[in-house]
Amino acid sequence: MVKQLLGGISPRRFLSDYWQKKPLLVRQAIPGFPGVISRDQAFALACGFDAESRLVWQTAGGWQMKHGPFKPKDFRRRGPWTVLVQGLNLLDDDADALLRRFDFVPWARLDDLLVSYASDGGGVGPHFDSYDVFLIQGMGRRRWQIGAQRDLEIIEGAPLRILKHFRIEQEWVLEPGDMLYLPPSYAHNGIAEGECMTYSVGFRAPAAQELATQFLVHLQDRLEMQGRYSDPGLAPPRHPGEIGSHMMDTVGEIIDRIAWNRHSVRDFLGCYLTEPKSHVFFDPPDRPLGRKAFAARVARGGIRLHRKSQLLFAGNSFYLNGEMIEVPPADRATLRELADRRTLPALADAGEATLAMFYNWYCDGFVVPGQR
Ligand code: SIN
Ligand code: CO
Repeated sequence: MVKQLLGGISPRRFLSDYWQKKPLLVRQAIPGFPGVISRDQAFALACGFDAESRLVWQTAGGWQMKHGPFKPKDFRRRGPWTVLVQGLNLLDDDADALLRRFDFVPWARLDDLLVSYASDGGGVGPHFDSYDVFLIQGMGRRRWQIGAQRDLEIIEGAPLRILKHFRIEQEWVLEPGDMLYLPPSYAHNGIAEGECMTYSVGFRAPAAQELATQFLVHLQDRLEMQGRYSDPGLAPPRHPGEIGSHMMDTVGEIIDRIAWNRHSVRDFLGCYLTEPKSHVFFDPPDRPLGRKAFAARVARGGIRLHRKSQLLFAGNSFYLNGEMIEVPPADRATLRELADRRTLPALADAGEATLAMFYNWYCDGFVVPGQR
């Protein structure tokens, strides 16, 4: 199935020849793709508080943008316009399933699925993204124009990042089920031909500044330093207003004792990458099953991660929704499978400790027992 998604190219070849390097157009990557949600469902999501949404349109004065939540009347408009809903995978299981088809890239690199609806002629203007993106055409048709330009200067003061000079090198009209892959910083412009919907699979490539800042925050929370500043050999200063060199040396030695290693980096990545976004809240079950009923359901129907849950591992270390979790050695293979596939088949002989752990996660809304 993944070969079809990539137009007959193996994931290995896609990654070596295209990923982060050059665009790839795949006709009928998902044959007969009807889309994941309807136009009205997209509008309803853009009117709610659960989704991050934006409305984009153009006036004589230039590009305009407004953040949601919207009112239905915001969508009764003339002229080309578009509405975008981010994080659709967090709101809809089918959207999550679409995102999870891209498992030839590690989950740690995956960001979210965005859906856009555009009226005839609508789009967000010529721009580039800092991330890799797969643009999958849902309902309707969209013309994509792309260019490998180096000049990425954007129009100053615009509410959207629009390229000042856009040079079209290639263009295609995408039909439902067609897909276009673009590497980071590739200039592109999508124009709806009639009303249309497009799904974008976005990836995560944090800026070096963000990684460093967040690593320091992680380290700070775990730092345990002994001792205190002291200066038993203090001599009368020539300048009482001066920060003396002894003080600088002593504090420098204290700071040199801040240490980190690969384990610190691993635990940072595990917590940082699985941390739910700030607007994500888990919904514990309204009337949770008791422990016994839960165990029976899991024994018959297995268990799956809730679409909002993120579980990653590195060796024997596991991270769920921003926290490091202790997993007994006997359960590690099971947990790795859950992290990879996000679902586990019937678990008839799960140990007590595993079941207790899963039950707690279930009560927090992190996992869902199977249906059977
Ligand atoms: C869109 O779907 O209108 C925009 C997607 C993109 O250009 O990244
Ligand atoms: Co884009």
